[in-house]
Formats: sequence, C-alpha cells, structure tokens
Amino acid sequence: MNTIKLPVERSNFPTLNNKIMLSSCSQSAPPQSVIDAMDSYKYSLIDEGMEWGNWVERVEGARNKFAELIHCEPEEVAILSSVSDAYSSVVNSLNFNEEDEICVTEIDFPCIGQISLSNKLRHDVPVTFIPHTNHVINREDYESKITDHTKLTCVPHISYYNGFKQDLKMISDIAKQHDSLLFVDAYQSAGSVPINVKEMGIDILTAGLQKYLMGIPGITFLYINKEISEQLVPATTGWFGQSNPFAFDLKSTGFAESTQRFNTGTPPIANAYAAEAALDYILDVGVENIEKYLQELSKFTIDYAESLGMEVASPKDSNQKGSTTAIYVENADEIETALKKEGYVVSARRDVIRIAPHVYNTKEDIEQALDRLKELL
Ligand SMILES: Cc1ncc(COP(=O)(O)O)c(C=O)c1O
Repeated sequence: MNTIKLPVERSNFPTLNNKIMLSSCSQSAPPQSVIDAMDSYKYSLIDEGMEWGNWVERVEGARNKFAELIHCEPEEVAILSSVSDAYSSVVNSLNFNEEDEICVTEIDFPCIGQISLSNKLRHDVPVTFIPHTNHVINREDYESKITDHTKLTCVPHISYYNGFKQDLKMISDIAKQHDSLLFVDAYQSAGSVPINVKEMGIDILTAGLQKYLMGIPGITFLYINKEISEQLVPATTGWFGQSNPFAFDLKSTGFAESTQRFNTGTPPIANAYAAEAALDYILDVGVENIEKYLQELSKFTIDYAESLGMEVASPKDSNQKGSTTAIYVENADEIETALKKEGYVVSARRDVIRIAPHVYNTKEDIEQALDRLKELL
C-alpha cells in the first residue's frame, strides 16, 4: 500500500521555485532525483572517464522499470529515441499483402499519420483515418473502419489535444476480431493512468518520458508482445539488437530475445539515467494514486473554467479523460507566451490552451492560472 501523500512535497521539484507548472502534456517538472541522476552521468564522465558497465546498467534499469510500469517482461521492451522512431520501426518491420491497410485515428499525434503515409508512398499500403466527433471516437467508429484488411490499427491511449481517454480493451477486442495488430501511443497516458498491456490486450505500445513520466526527451520505450516480435525481422536494428553485441560479429545476425531485436545502436545513455530515476519516482508514488488525484484536479479544472465562462474542448466526464484539459482560445501561442512571462507554464496546441497538472499541483495553482487566462482573454 502506497503511503505518499498527494500533492507531493513541492520543495522536491526545483522548477516549482519560480514556476507554476501545468504543462505535463508537454513537459513535467522533474523531481530532484531526476536532476541528480543527470548529474551523476555528468560526474561519471568527469570522474571516471569511461564507465560502460555502469552505463549499460542504467539503461537496463530504465528498461526494467518501464516493463514494471506496463506489466510486461523486460525483454519485450526496446529502447529508442522517439515515438516517431518506434512507430517507424514497427511499420517498416511489417510485410503488407496487396489488400492490407493501416487504420489511424484522426486524433493520433501527427507523426503517426505522417509515417503511415510515408509507408503508403513506398509500398502503396492505403491508410484509413478513423474519424472523430468533437475529438472523441466511439465504438461504432472503430467497428465501421476496422476490417479484415486492417493489418495495423493505431490509436492514442489519451489524446494530446484534449486529453480524451480511450477504452483500450474495447478497441483491442474489435481489432482482434479482425486479426489486426493494435499499436497504442501511450505518450500522454504513461505515468498518469495505469497500463497493463496483457490485460488490455495491447500488442504494441510506445511512450516517451517527457510528459507525465517526469523525465526528459530523447528516450522512448517500445513494447511488442514477444509472440509477435519473435515473428518480425526488424528493418531498423543494430548491434544492440543482437543477442551478443560484444561478439563484434560482422557476418551473421543473432537477434536478441524478443523485442530487444528492435534496439539499434548505442542507447541514449544520459537520457536513460534520467528515465530510470523518473520511473522510480512514478512507481514510488503509485500510478493508481496518481490517477485518482489527477481525476480530482481534472474535474476541478473543468468546473472552474466553466464557472469563468470558458469553453472546454475536453470530454466533461472525468472517466473519459486524463489530466489534460483543453480550453478554446484565440491566439493560443500568444497566450502561452504571455502566461509564461508571469510564471505560469501551460501548453498551446492549435486553438486551445492545455492545462495539464501533475501530483505537485494544487487546486490553487489551477485557479490562479485560469484567473490570469481569463483576464488575458
Ligand atoms: C501522443 C504523442 N505521440 C507522439 C508525440 C511525438 O513524440 P516524438 O517526438 O517522441 O516522436 C507526442 C508529442 O507531443 C505526443 O503527445
């Protein structure tokens, strides 16, 4: 049973000394332990010069902790640099037949559509976009678009735009009826919402560290269920995708166990230091606790924004959304910049300002930021 009281101790987050951080959909404030971990890589270089044993251990530590977070085996997780890398790697490893297609939702992050369309240019594999209504997708939309020709179905767990949270088990059941592989982009959910890839029936999942996982950019995890990854020959791989990279064997390929064959070259070691510490912190606080607390803040944000007469672009039911609440504004980028000057860090996307609290935020933070936003409007 987890005993950390929420909101967590703010003095543990140096960024909060001079900022009200409400931008976890883009970048969270890192806890002191993440900053210390980045320092320890720096001192490893300064004091030890070269420390491969320790560096590889940090990468393995990060992999193990991510596996714990999503409830899979560590060998089912590869380490790459971005969600774009991870999705490209998956698409490039698939063999498409003449009638196959890819289904992507209209609420996916743009890189998912762009990479699918690049695959279309190269291999003539059609891309079907599953439509949204007010940035929400319903069961019928999935039922009508996923067919026996859908080799790959791509969905975000939580929308980057308005925090809409999807029922992954429902989507997975539909995909399975058609033998379609389910790819989940969990960048906006990992760390804020519990994920159990086996119980949710997820075949492939990816997430970076910069958002609700409280880490930094430049490192991303790719989970592929081992029964699937062992059937795949990755087009993007490298010496760290081999069972023994240090054999330095130029003339044969001996892939590493299951999804580790999707590793490429030397891993992002400095980023792995930060990732391991960030995952440690999140697991310590407990994702169930985090979700419960963020649901409370999410409901408060909607109610307070509406009480100020603002138009909310997110679902109103807190069970249907994550922590991010999107508010329609004109000139979102200008408003983000104006609020930043006053110490409020929020995030603009197209026509909305996103308020994305984490466990160090209080209702007062949200109240103050929304009051200032109202004045600016
Ligand atoms: C849901 C989601 N997927 C993907 C990305 C992009 O990830 P990357 O830059 O690692 O490719 C983002 C970035 O904001 C995102 O929110």
